[in-house]
Amino acid sequence: MNRPVMEGLRLNVPAYVKHARLVEWVARIAALTEAAEVYWCDGSEAEYQRLTEQLVAAGTLMKLDPARRPRSFLARSDPGDVARVEDRTFICSRRQEDAGPTNNWMDPAEMRALLETGRPDGTPALFKGAMRGRTMYVVPFSMGPLGSHISHIGVELTDSPYVAVSMRVMTRMGRGALDVLGADGSFVPCVHTVGAPLASGQKDVAWPCNKTKYIVHYPETREIWSYGSGYGGNALLGKKCFALRIASTMGRDQGWLAEHMLILGVTSPQGRKYHVAAAFPSACGKTNFSMLVPPAGYEGWKVTTIGDDIAWIKPHADGRLYAINPEAGYFGVAPGTNRHTNPNCMDSLQSDVIFTNVALTDDGDVWWEGMTDAPPAHLVDWQGKDWTPAIARETGAKAAHPNARFTVASTRNPVLDHQWDDPNGVPIDAFVFGGRRSTTVPLVAEARSWAEGVYMAATMGSETTAAQAGATGVVRRDPFAMLPFMGYHMSDYFQHWLDLGSRLEREGATLPRIYCVNWFRKGADGRFVWPGYGENMRVLEWILGRLEGKAGGEPNAFGISPRYDDLRWDCLPFTREQFASVIGIDKAAWRQELALHDELFRQLAWHLPAELPATKAHIEERLAA
Ligand code: GTP
Ligand code: SPV
Ligand code: MN
Repeated sequence: MNRPVMEGLRLNVPAYVKHARLVEWVARIAALTEAAEVYWCDGSEAEYQRLTEQLVAAGTLMKLDPARRPRSFLARSDPGDVARVEDRTFICSRRQEDAGPTNNWMDPAEMRALLETGRPDGTPALFKGAMRGRTMYVVPFSMGPLGSHISHIGVELTDSPYVAVSMRVMTRMGRGALDVLGADGSFVPCVHTVGAPLASGQKDVAWPCNKTKYIVHYPETREIWSYGSGYGGNALLGKKCFALRIASTMGRDQGWLAEHMLILGVTSPQGRKYHVAAAFPSACGKTNFSMLVPPAGYEGWKVTTIGDDIAWIKPHADGRLYAINPEAGYFGVAPGTNRHTNPNCMDSLQSDVIFTNVALTDDGDVWWEGMTDAPPAHLVDWQGKDWTPAIARETGAKAAHPNARFTVASTRNPVLDHQWDDPNGVPIDAFVFGGRRSTTVPLVAEARSWAEGVYMAATMGSETTAAQAGATGVVRRDPFAMLPFMGYHMSDYFQHWLDLGSRLEREGATLPRIYCVNWFRKGADGRFVWPGYGENMRVLEWILGRLEGKAGGEPNAFGISPRYDDLRWDCLPFTREQFASVIGIDKAAWRQELALHDELFRQLAWHLPAELPATKAHIEERLAA
């Protein structure tokens, strides 16, 4: 194979790389970005060691106490680079209507001029020289088990070694992915720069980034370009950019689904195993639900994790939908995680973790709000400042950023499902959709049909969280928990779900049932009424009972919900009144809610499936009855 050597820059292509197109692309991006060096990641343990040591030397990572938190690190980001930037995220399809009104859109030619080629008025391209003074890492990765027919390969070129090591934790990264690619396999090219070139002799900062940010997707050519951020969802391009936005368009074209869903296995004391996929918006409980510990009274039940954030779901010849988790690690929310809320997660975090934006204890360990009842007397906060409970009371300063995260391999999870890596995936029995709503939406409701389930998912509202830049606690529509992650027009996506359901039904398949849940209703005192976490097992048991035709329920305007006596209350003091306050359908609140559904349907009028307004009309009739 012809191995290009560019002027003044060696591409350092390892002998095992056989893919000429890949090498040409690497050469082209290295030339554009003027990277000082090119390094190909092999994904080995030794390489991870080397890169993390280098990151420690550069001040990006801090080594935590080896006895308290073995082989673990803390990163503090730039204070302006702490979350996904939805207003800087673009779907650059050829036609604007294919991106739809819920996405930012720019003409692909215009975007390419901005990022790659420079504009007619002489404005240089953002990526031109963007990696000057930095090493460009070539990061090959597989989303999904290596070699599985469901998996897809990507290659990320990045000037951030933090991204390179994070990709090793989050994906099957390295030489194995290149072996799958062979000499001519197809891959999704992902280009990432922090957008902070270094002049010769210029000292680097701990967390380089740029105020200007662009997270760009070209769905037709399946390319990703990300500029200016080092934060998770903006920079680890295999995750939201590839496995959701680009994959959703692949799924539309090829008849499958890419979803913002956890996947769990749940085994009854009788040994019957079910698989549930659940979509909750960002920071609304997927990681927690996927690692649920059944409460007292549920001895013999076992919940195991297949995935905590993303599911790729494909119809199988047996008529069922099979799901894989394309990821190999968790990039999860730290605040609120503790021994009571998520003990399996706490166990997963004992060693081999990269923490970002949590607080540092005086003995070299980590802390975040909600980790322990009482905070330590002194901490260094996520911005490197002294923090004490007194300072917090005075200024309201948080020790950890509300969107502080951990990055850890799935294999650290003590309840990892034995099929988590199965190339065929697991058959899904039920889909669950759940937003964060302090009012209106009941604890759980079953959809009477696939179309009613699609309606529930499509109209889901949720209060915004710290996972994205902007205001928190504001109710917005987040259809299928996919609002920030859709690669095409939301209405076409609804149609895709409906079409898949009718196709499978025509073929005689038993479709998974669809449920809507809400763990977050609040009482007059402003506190959550439902205890949540492990107690969500009671709702899960009801769902499984419905699948088996055993659990009772009562129809309401929205769906079918359990009565108090349809749930099991062993070992949980939870009164009928409390239950009524989380399950009740308030007619006035629902009329307002339906007005918000209307607003969504007006926004999505182009190609909106007729089933959705028809389902809404049925809900209105039932409300009026
Ligand atoms: P992303 O990684 O952003 O997609 O989020 P996620 O859906 O995996 O969210 P996660 O499970 O990390 O939960 C985020 C926050 O919700 C944490 O602070 C949890 O403590 C809180 N949470 C999770 N489950 C429950 C629950 O059942 N009840 C209540 N009240 N809070 C919960
Ligand atoms: C989310 O925001 O839904 C996440 C974290 O899972 S990130 O990867 O940053 O998008
Ligand atoms: Mn997520």
